[in-house]
Amino acid sequence: MPTLLIIHHTPSPFMQAMFEAVVSGATDPEIEGVEVVRRAALAVSPADVLAADGYLLGTPANLGYMSGALKHAFDVIYYPCLDSTRGRPFGLYLHGNEGTEGAERAVTSITTGLGWAKAADYVVVSGKPGKDDLETCWELGATVAAQLMQ
Ligand SMILES: Cc1cc2nc3c(=O)[nH]c(=O)nc-3n(C[C@H](O)[C@H](O)[C@H](O)COP(=O)(O)O)c2cc1C
Repeated sequence: MPTLLIIHHTPSPFMQAMFEAVVSGATDPEIEGVEVVRRAALAVSPADVLAADGYLLGTPANLGYMSGALKHAFDVIYYPCLDSTRGRPFGLYLHGNEGTEGAERAVTSITTGLGWAKAADYVVVSGKPGKDDLETCWELGATVAAQLMQ
């Protein structure tokens, strides 16, 4: 069964709400035959990434960059997964007010190096996620999961 791996750093209630909306979209009953696996960014392993067929990344903007936790995940998986995960789809949700461009740029740069395929527009939310924001997160999860349906 194809597997969607959610690699997330979730340090606050606002980010938890976004994470839950993404999971809800990815696990919608209309998406059949896709297993959804969640891993905290500080706990993800190369084996988790190699075993998955697509990825959802979730992070706050920290110091104008992605969180150290998500960067740690990339540091751990980059070389073991290079050339084995090329072409796989990914999506990104991001929370922050300032410096989100830096985080987007960094994720784009690293995923380009890995050869991952951007499967949906990045979702960037500031402040308390509203209904529309959470719907956009839901759609992100559903969109990337749907691409793994066989
Ligand atoms: C060390 C650190 C650095 C941060 N740097 C930024 C930043 O550059 N830009 C920004 O918008 N938010 C920054 N934040 C705030 C986080 O992005 C924010 O906590 C996260 O988006 C979740 O939002 P919330 O705490 O309001 O729920 C930083 C937080 C920490 C802990």
